[in-house]
Amino acid sequence: MTRALSRRYLLGAAALAVAAPLAGRVAFGQAQERLRLPPLIDTRASGRLALRAQPGELSIRGGPPALTAGYNQNYLGPTIVMQNGPLAVRVENALQEPVSSHWHGLLVPGEQDGGPHKAIAPGEAWTGDMDLSQRPCTPWYHSHAHGSTARHVYAGLAGMINYTDGRDDQRGLPSRYGIDDLSLVIQDRRFDDSGRMIYNPDSTDIQNGFQGSRILVNGQFNAIAPVPRGIVRLRLLNGSNARFYTLHFNDRRPFFLVGTDGGLLPNPLEMTYMRIAPAERMEILVDFGEGPAPVLMSASGLPMKILEFAIDETQPRRIVRVPETLDAEPAWPDADSLPLRRFALNMGGSSLAEVKQGAGIHSVHAGHGAPARLIGSGPNGELGIGMTDFGINGRAYDMKRIDFAVKLGAFERWIISGGGAGVLHPFHVHGVHFRVVSTAGAPPKPEDSGWKDTVVVDGQAEIIVKFERTASADAPYMYHCHILEHEDAGMMGQFTVA
Ligand code: C2O
Ligand code: CU
Ligand code: CU
Repeated sequence: MTRALSRRYLLGAAALAVAAPLAGRVAFGQAQERLRLPPLIDTRASGRLALRAQPGELSIRGGPPALTAGYNQNYLGPTIVMQNGPLAVRVENALQEPVSSHWHGLLVPGEQDGGPHKAIAPGEAWTGDMDLSQRPCTPWYHSHAHGSTARHVYAGLAGMINYTDGRDDQRGLPSRYGIDDLSLVIQDRRFDDSGRMIYNPDSTDIQNGFQGSRILVNGQFNAIAPVPRGIVRLRLLNGSNARFYTLHFNDRRPFFLVGTDGGLLPNPLEMTYMRIAPAERMEILVDFGEGPAPVLMSASGLPMKILEFAIDETQPRRIVRVPETLDAEPAWPDADSLPLRRFALNMGGSSLAEVKQGAGIHSVHAGHGAPARLIGSGPNGELGIGMTDFGINGRAYDMKRIDFAVKLGAFERWIISGGGAGVLHPFHVHGVHFRVVSTAGAPPKPEDSGWKDTVVVDGQAEIIVKFERTASADAPYMYHCHILEHEDAGMMGQFTVA
C-alpha cells in the first residue's frame, strides 16, 4: 500500500475497507523499547505557547508506517507545563484539513476553548491571550473539528498539560518529569495484517465506539518505563476513542489516587483496581520501594498489558512515603436546592426502537450534522437510520443551535441518563469542573471524587456544576459523550454562559 493511501486511513476522507485484523497475526518484534515521555514545553518563564498541527508517520515495532498527525511532532504532542497567569497561545495548522485545539480541562472562556466553532483552516493559525486561573491538575488538549474529532484524535492530535502551582514539593508529591513524575497517554489502536495502524470504523464500531487490539502508551507498544526505587507519580490519560480500562498491577499492589480530572483530592485514596474512562485523567502514586517492578494491566474484558516498569537503581530514592493530606475542597451547595437540568443520551438502538413505536424521533434527521462523514466514502446518511439517531434529548448536535443558556456564576444540578446494559457513556462538559453527587443511584466511587470534567453515565449520573467562565453564541461550550464516535455521530450539544 502506498503512503498516499494509508494517509487516508487516518486523516483523509476515503474509507478503504480492510477487515479487522486478528491481533495474534500481527508480528511485532520482541525487543523492548524504553518508554519515551513526550517532550516538555514549560510556558512558565516565557508566557508563550506555540503549537503546530502537522503530518507525521508512526511505525510500531518495525511495522510499516501509518501516516499520522501530531502537535510539533509525528504523533501526539508535547506535555505543556502551565500555571496561573497570562499565556499567549498560537496554534498553526500545517495539515490539509481544518483542525482545532480544544483545551480539555482548562477553564478558559468559550472564545479560547478551541471547540468546533474555532476550527483552524489549513495554513492558518489561531492565537489567543489566555488569563489562566485554576487549581493544579492534569488537563489535555486535542483536535475538536466538527465531525472529525474521532479521526483526528486517533491520528494523534492530542497531548497532555501539567498545570502546576509550584507547590508539589511542599505537598510531598513527586514532580521530576520523566523521573518520578510520568505522563502516560493510554490508547488502543487497530492494526492491519501488515502491522500498520489503521482507522476503519464500520457501523458496529460507531455503535460501540472504535476499539483496537493493542495498547499504546505515548505512542509505543510494549515499552518499558524505568523508575526510581521510591514513590512515583503516574499522570494517566485515557486518550482512547472508546475503550475503558480497569487498571491494576499484576502483583495486586495497592496504589493511591491523588488527583482526578480537575484537581488534587483532599487525601490520597488507596485502591487496587481503578476504572479510567475515555478522556478521564487519574493521578496515582505507586510505591516501587520493594520487590521487582510490577506490570500495569487492564482487567476490563480480556486482560491486557498496559506498561512494564523496571527499577533504575542509579536514580536516588527521593520520595519514600505517600503524603497524608493534599488540597482541601471547598464546601458545595446542597444538590436539592439547585435548578435541575436533565439530559438523556440517545443512540441508534434505543432511538430506533422509539421510531418503531412512533415516538417522533424522526426529527433528529432534520438536525443533520455530519454523522456519516467519519466513515467518509459517501454522503451523509449512508449509514442508515440507526446511525443518525445519536443525540441528546432527542436531538443530534447542530452547530447552529444553542441548546440552552446558563447564568455566569450559577450552580446547577444536572442529571444525565442513558447507557446501561453494557454501554457506558463518558459525559464531558467544557469550561467547567463539576462534582459528582451519585452514579447509578450510588454514592460516587473514588474515580468520581474530586473535581471532574468527565463522568461515566451507567444508567444515570448526577452532578453539581459551577459556571465560572463565559461562552457566547459564537463560541459556545460543548457537552457530549467522549466516546468520540458517539460525539461525531451527534451525541453532543452546546450552551452559552453569560
Ligand atoms: Cu475532550 Cu469536547 O472534549
Ligand atoms: Cu473538553
Ligand atoms: Cu456514548
